[in-house]
Amino acid sequence: MADKRRFALFAAHIKESLPNVRRVFDVAGGMGGLNAALTVLGIETTTFDSRRKRLPVRFAERRFTLEEPCECDLVAGLHPDGATRLIIEYAAKHRIPFAIVPCCSDNGMSYKPWMRHLAELGAQAGFTVSEGKLPIDGRSRVLTGLPLCVI
Ligand SMILES: C[S@@+](CC[C@H](N)C(=O)[O-])C[C@H]1O[C@@H](n2cnc3c(N)ncnc32)[C@H](O)[C@@H]1O
Repeated sequence: MADKRRFALFAAHIKESLPNVRRVFDVAGGMGGLNAALTVLGIETTTFDSRRKRLPVRFAERRFTLEEPCECDLVAGLHPDGATRLIIEYAAKHRIPFAIVPCCSDNGMSYKPWMRHLAELGAQAGFTVSEGKLPIDGRSRVLTGLPLCVI
């Protein structure tokens, strides 16, 4: 059973590490728990997932793709499974920050190599990638990517 504290703790991490963020896309957001926690903190959030059972939050009931118009200043994913790389690719496409708490890989990699791979992917796509950790049980490492400024 995943740790229910993850929503509030990841929301607080986002607010603290990216204080200027106003609008978030919560990709692969399940029932919208992260959305509810971010909304409490005053951050407008849209959750993308195909789940029908969900909380009463702003919700786009569909699979997220690279074609989604960008109406956010952060794209985030909490245990986003097969959408993890997509989040980094979307952030790269629109030159916006990303914040992810990865869990399962989409290619059979185990957790540590998967985390290394994602950090490298972010760096190759032109982000400064930093790592944090949530005080939760289970997969708790956070990768945050900030687009490098080209002067
Ligand atoms: C492990 S669950 C995590 C849900 C939620 N973030 C949480 O922490 O409870 C992974 C979710 O990813 C969703 N998902 C995977 N690929 C997706 C995509 N391309 N677009 C939207 N949702 C996706 C699945 O429907 C599933 O709800």
